[in-house]
Amino acid sequence: MSGALRIGIAGIGTVGAGALAILRDHAAMIEARAGQRLEVVAVSMRDPNKPRSVDLSGLKLVPHPEALADEPLDVVVELMGGHEGAAHQLVTRALTRGKHVVSANKALIAHHGMALAALAETHDRVLAFEAAVAGGIPIIAAIRSGLAANRLTRVAGILNGTCNYILSKMLEADADFAEVLAEAGKLGYLEADPALDIDGIDAGHKVSILAALAFGTVPDFAGVKLGGIREVTLRDMHYARDFGYRIKLLGIAERRDEALLQRVEPCLVPVSSPLASVDGAYNAVEVEGDAVGRVVFEGRGAGAGPTGSAVVADLIAIARGDRYPPFTLPTGQLARARALDAAAREGCYYLRLSLKDEPGVLAEFTREFAAQHISVKSIVQREIAEDGSAQVVVVTHHTNEAAMQRVVKSIAALPCTTRTPVLLRIHA
Ligand code: NAP
Ligand code: HSE
Repeated sequence: MSGALRIGIAGIGTVGAGALAILRDHAAMIEARAGQRLEVVAVSMRDPNKPRSVDLSGLKLVPHPEALADEPLDVVVELMGGHEGAAHQLVTRALTRGKHVVSANKALIAHHGMALAALAETHDRVLAFEAAVAGGIPIIAAIRSGLAANRLTRVAGILNGTCNYILSKMLEADADFAEVLAEAGKLGYLEADPALDIDGIDAGHKVSILAALAFGTVPDFAGVKLGGIREVTLRDMHYARDFGYRIKLLGIAERRDEALLQRVEPCLVPVSSPLASVDGAYNAVEVEGDAVGRVVFEGRGAGAGPTGSAVVADLIAIARGDRYPPFTLPTGQLARARALDAAAREGCYYLRLSLKDEPGVLAEFTREFAAQHISVKSIVQREIAEDGSAQVVVVTHHTNEAAMQRVVKSIAALPCTTRTPVLLRIHA
């Protein structure tokens, strides 16, 4: 076996400590698989006096993370987070100084992935980020290798464990969003800025990375239409369940010809779908390919062990000599796909209406569906809400977004409508 692969880690928080523990606990097995000893020689963190869950004695403590790029290392592992500042500077400098880089930082890759991939290419180094998407699920390796024979058409999934925990818990405990959000905070699930989770930004970062890998396109985070879970109500969760669906926050990237539709939003998924039964802080990703059909991956999307597992897998691949472009294709071959407008979406819809409970109302609003040539699959009047309005749920057959938006607009303007209609897309 050749000499050790010398590693420096910036950030010894949840993921850094997890990766370090795996490297130590499985040192002999990892060496056998990598064909080389993986040796962490230097670390950097913000506060060296903070108590850590892993022993750092014997490791060189580098006060400023960027300085790791100047150390005699083969690989720099960036586990600090944030898409600007220290993380961006370290990764840029490390690649420029000829180090391979491993990162779990989805924000950094979503915002700067293309420039960093070009830098890695120029310096003939690896930039690997398996841990950035879906934690312990090896979805990037699967797209790059296992599914490489396919023209992929859609990647979709539960990409934010915190939101999945909140939505699952709301239904299970019959609790509202604010209550479960507070609980998620106490459990340490929320990002330092909770908006990253609950407004769909974190899932959007992951969607843009998956889309680039799956479709051979330039990562386009700005092209992701973001939606979150703040407005998801228990009422809609109950109605959806009665219709045979569950509500999940999904990240979806679809290729239509050479254009791309990327979005994050709460969707109804049929209970028969594998995604419907993925509960708690778990992630799941569906990939659709022309040869393989639909493949579904499920597992823990966060935490020291799962995310550390993905970081160490990248390190083993580097030690073995695996060399591949960060986004599967060389940067010069990545296409700049046209971003499809959200109105290009097609599928079935769930619409909840709040209406006056009066004769003739049913005829009044169903006319609007007929006017847009939308076929209704089912209509149920559920109950009278606290404000005295009748709650009517409509599930449509296959239609298109533009027609559906016209219906929502015209129903919202009817005199019988008491509140803004709630529209959710059905993922099939
Ligand atoms: P964390 O627990 O907050 O740890 C961050 C670490 O980075 C800490 O050790 C911190 O130092 C250090 N750090 C932060 N800013 C620094 C700076 N300017 N200079 C030096 N050190 C700095 O974060 P984490 O949860 O491990 O996440 C790390 C990365 O992995 C992030 O990009 C995150 O998005 C990604 N990720 C996390 C998970 C997860 O389950 N947690 C899953 C997937 C991906 P101190 O300890 O001294 O404060
Ligand atoms: N905040 C993220 C989540 C962490 O809840 O999924 C893992 O990327």
